[in-house]
Amino acid sequence: MALSVEKTAAGREYKVKDMSQADFGRLEIELAEVEMPGLMACRAEFGPAQPFKGAKITGSLHMTIQTAVLIETLTALGAEVRWCSCNIFSTQDHAAAAIARDSAAVFAWKGETLQEYWWCTERALDWGPTGGPDLIVDDGGDATLLIHEGVKAEEVYEKTGQLPDPSSTDNAEFQIVLTIIRDGLKADPKKYTRMKERLVGVSEETTTGFDNLYGCRHSLPDGLMRATDVMIAGKVAVVCGYGDVGKGCAAALKQAGARVIVTEIDPICALQALMEGLQVLTLEDVVSEADIFVTTTGNKDIIMVNHMRKMKNNAIVCNIGHFDNEIDMLGLENYPGVKRITIKPQTDRWVFPETNTGIIVLAEGRLMNLGCATGHPSFVMSCSFTNQVIAQLELWKEKATGKYEKKVYVLPKHLDEKVAALHLGKLGANLTKLTKDQADYISVPIEGPYKPPHYRSLCVGWMVSFGGKETRPLLEEDPMGFE
Ligand code: NAI
Repeated sequence: MALSVEKTAAGREYKVKDMSQADFGRLEIELAEVEMPGLMACRAEFGPAQPFKGAKITGSLHMTIQTAVLIETLTALGAEVRWCSCNIFSTQDHAAAAIARDSAAVFAWKGETLQEYWWCTERALDWGPTGGPDLIVDDGGDATLLIHEGVKAEEVYEKTGQLPDPSSTDNAEFQIVLTIIRDGLKADPKKYTRMKERLVGVSEETTTGFDNLYGCRHSLPDGLMRATDVMIAGKVAVVCGYGDVGKGCAAALKQAGARVIVTEIDPICALQALMEGLQVLTLEDVVSEADIFVTTTGNKDIIMVNHMRKMKNNAIVCNIGHFDNEIDMLGLENYPGVKRITIKPQTDRWVFPETNTGIIVLAEGRLMNLGCATGHPSFVMSCSFTNQVIAQLELWKEKATGKYEKKVYVLPKHLDEKVAALHLGKLGANLTKLTKDQADYISVPIEGPYKPPHYRSLCVGWMVSFGGKETRPLLEEDPMGFE
């Protein structure tokens, strides 16, 4: 892809794969709107007051149809928006085209190289000479990380004249980040410092609990089937990790007729798996017998190349957990004599020389439900994205009041309950109302919150305030621990 910014007839910047897909994207956005009652309720409740008028919001979040509904909720509330994806494989090109044509500046396409990915991130943060965004919706923290690293480099450059050195790190992706910063520094040595000064806060698009369980229960089999069309029934499937994502994956595989084996480190999660009728073993116990392997641990180095060598011919190996290092892709790529046969994008057969048998790796070890399918369905994302809108509204409303210090805040339980409530009607639920007597008896307010903050959340929304405009954002520390 030639990396040049294009402009719509209205003058809005964009770079997407194919603008001719915009009508298709629009039709799917309209379908998704009906499945996203929380976001549509935000438009109805807050839209008339235009609370985001004057706010510039940058998003780094999978550029899917669901995200398109989020973006158009932010613009419906008055914001100006620039967007990139937070994953090189997750963009739905028709969604990107529709948003670029109709609503916001988008820089995203499916199958970006890492260079292209960081170019897109840079573009989404580029609000011109007035500085950067006021607010960021960040999934994973890459946009925030670029600002952090940029500020750090600008400070060193100002003091010593020294430019960042990409060869100072072994991490190929971080080399790209340092290269981008280095290349921009001489032309504009204060770009990221200006961004820092303008930035009010970040909300981190996190799904946890409800949405991971039900989202992955939907999207794991979707990804497996789109990528391989394999019959799940009768197969032996190994789910590494039995947290929320693992529970959703195991439930889907079991319901589809697979025999499911779980690997766990935590005795409580292991016991939960056993109580669901699943086996708990180690990967080594089952590596040569299973047909499908799914990593969901949030940890690294779960399936190594030495495991993969011992697997059955055409065993499927995929990750729906953390980033791209649960599966040892580097070890696989560097295995002497290994042959990669790309069946289609995001579905590769890797053949080992000793046995001439192969395994099928999905999405190059990255999140397979986004690489091979379309991620969580709209209804699940509506819960999470409604939290995002509420967090962004709160940060913007309180930007100058000092209400929020430079800290990470978890959205309070009553907002979580509000988001859940917005989704009940669509499913025909009728909620029981507490009597005053009952409320007193269990010591909760009639209107909620009904559970203590530590009780399982619908979805956790994090927001990071940078201290409000008066105290000025302080980015020296990394309040979200992105590194
Ligand atoms: P969690 O913490 O509830 O579950 C992870 C489980 O893995 C824990 O029970 C832990 O004990 C276990 N574990 C850790 N190391 C292990 C090892 N070496 N072997 C076996 N088990 C191990 O986390 P959750 O919410 O289930 O998320 C897991 C990962 O999935 C996270 O990285 C999260 O970011 C990612 N995620 C992916 C999504 C997607 O759409 N693909 C959506 C949401 C989360």
